[in-house]
Amino acid sequence: MLEIKDLHVEAGGREILKGISLDVKEGETCVLFGPNGSGKSTLLSAIMGYGTCRVTKGKIMFKGKDITEMPVDERARLGIGMMMQRPPNVVGVKLGDLVKATAGGDVKAVDNASDFKMESFLERDINVGFSGGEIKRSELMQLTAQKPDFVLLDEPESGVDLENIDLIGKKVHDLLYAKNNNCPNGKRCVSSLVITHTGQILDYIGADKAYVLRDGLIRCTGRPMDILKDIKERGYGECISCRMVKME
Ligand SMILES: Nc1ncnc2c1ncn2[C@@H]1O[C@H](COP(=O)(O)OP(=O)(O)OP(=O)(O)O)[C@@H](O)[C@H]1O
Ligand SMILES: [Mg+2]
Repeated sequence: MLEIKDLHVEAGGREILKGISLDVKEGETCVLFGPNGSGKSTLLSAIMGYGTCRVTKGKIMFKGKDITEMPVDERARLGIGMMMQRPPNVVGVKLGDLVKATAGGDVKAVDNASDFKMESFLERDINVGFSGGEIKRSELMQLTAQKPDFVLLDEPESGVDLENIDLIGKKVHDLLYAKNNNCPNGKRCVSSLVITHTGQILDYIGADKAYVLRDGLIRCTGRPMDILKDIKERGYGECISCRMVKME
């Protein structure tokens, strides 16, 4: 579904990604681990097409199409959605209006706000004054309204309290198993690339494959829970469960 080949990305005049290759198949959940500042969010921004970074070499293929130069709105229409690590404040745009527009005018998307404990936020400007956990729930509500078939989740559980982690986890699960999108029961229909440091979100969604990103390169790949255990015990550099990736 998503295939990235030898991707080089620059931001702020510096090369951040130095030749990333990875793939995510249909219905697959892939995890991206890596230390702070290694380039994980930059990779997600490059896939979504945000202008904060620039692809200098390589290719991003989605559903067989080369989307490397495609504008962000076209990528969204093709089915890619993203939950950002730090989304911007949007002064003058009400959250409820955005959710309605994202759902193609479907007012049901707004009716679902209480499922995300966001019913009292619909008249507020997007993210303005929202707490960290409120921003995560708001992002997830918007993403759910979009009904994407490929999602990029940048630390969905980070900064969320223990009760709300349960809400976020269950809602991400519903999104991937596309409960509101005629997905056959028990089948994961939506593909994803998920960044997590703690792995808490994986308790809710399961995961098929993990990549470890360090200093702008995918260093190795393997089974998510094994790699997470190794990282906790040994750090990122000595992950024995992670199969080395051959550099191109
Ligand atoms: N616009 C920019 N200008 C300058 N440097 C940038 C820019 N965008 C990203 N960087 C740098 O690129 C590096 C990778 O950033 P990125 O946000 O992708 O890291 P990350 O792996 O997501 O880290 P974290 O786990 O802390 O979220 C960081 O050193 C960051 O400061
Ligand atoms: Mg990040």
